[in-house]
Amino acid sequence: MLIRREVAADVEAIDRVHRAAFAAGAGGAEPIEVGLVHALRVDAGWVPALSLVAEDAGGQVVGHVVCTEGSLEGTPVVGLGPIGVLPEVQRAGVGRALMHAVLAAADALGYPLAVLLGHLDYYPQFGFRPAATLGVLAPDPAWGDHFQARPLATWTPELRGRFRYAAPFEAL
Ligand SMILES: CC(C)(COP(=O)(O)OP(=O)(O)OC[C@H]1O[C@@H](n2cnc3c(N)ncnc32)[C@H](O)[C@@H]1OP(=O)(O)O)[C@@H](O)C(=O)NCCC(=O)NCCS
Repeated sequence: MLIRREVAADVEAIDRVHRAAFAAGAGGAEPIEVGLVHALRVDAGWVPALSLVAEDAGGQVVGHVVCTEGSLEGTPVVGLGPIGVLPEVQRAGVGRALMHAVLAAADALGYPLAVLLGHLDYYPQFGFRPAATLGVLAPDPAWGDHFQARPLATWTPELRGRFRYAAPFEAL
């Protein structure tokens, strides 16, 4: 398996990954994650170095993750998601490889923190913890402990307050 940056030729394969990984909407509508990734690509918060695909030995894209730039009281911070892996290759380490790679890339770019909304049984293995324990508040208080944060190398404890995702998330 290879982890590499998304290129233009990957767009349809990335759609396929999220279409298969996420539940369809009402009446079988496209999962919202498919359109979200398209909207993020043309948003100011898009960071090309933080949209990564996993490619299998045959060159097929089997997973995708993206971090986009949001803001924590004016400090640029990344929001992680969506992440998706084709159902037929889940639980084989693809998601883990994507998570480690995108967090290392965000760290290398100097972002101090990554946040996400997700399961408490999956993300703590990558250093995420309930964001509130770091003084970082979710856009929606109802998210509770599922809103998680992962400090990166330039994080300092003064980095506190309410996080705002890139604009396309707010349109969901
Ligand atoms: C969540 C997701 C990205 C994980 O990718 P993956 O390639 O299946 O995960 P990995 O194989 O790297 O998992 C690594 C470890 O995480 C844990 N894990 C994986 N999926 C898990 C799940 N659904 N629940 C709990 N723990 C899980 C396991 O400990 C696993 O190791 P193990 O299989 O040796 O026990 C993938 O299952 C997926 O696309 N799900 C549907 C879309 C989704 O829910 N995305 C996340 C919300 S944005």
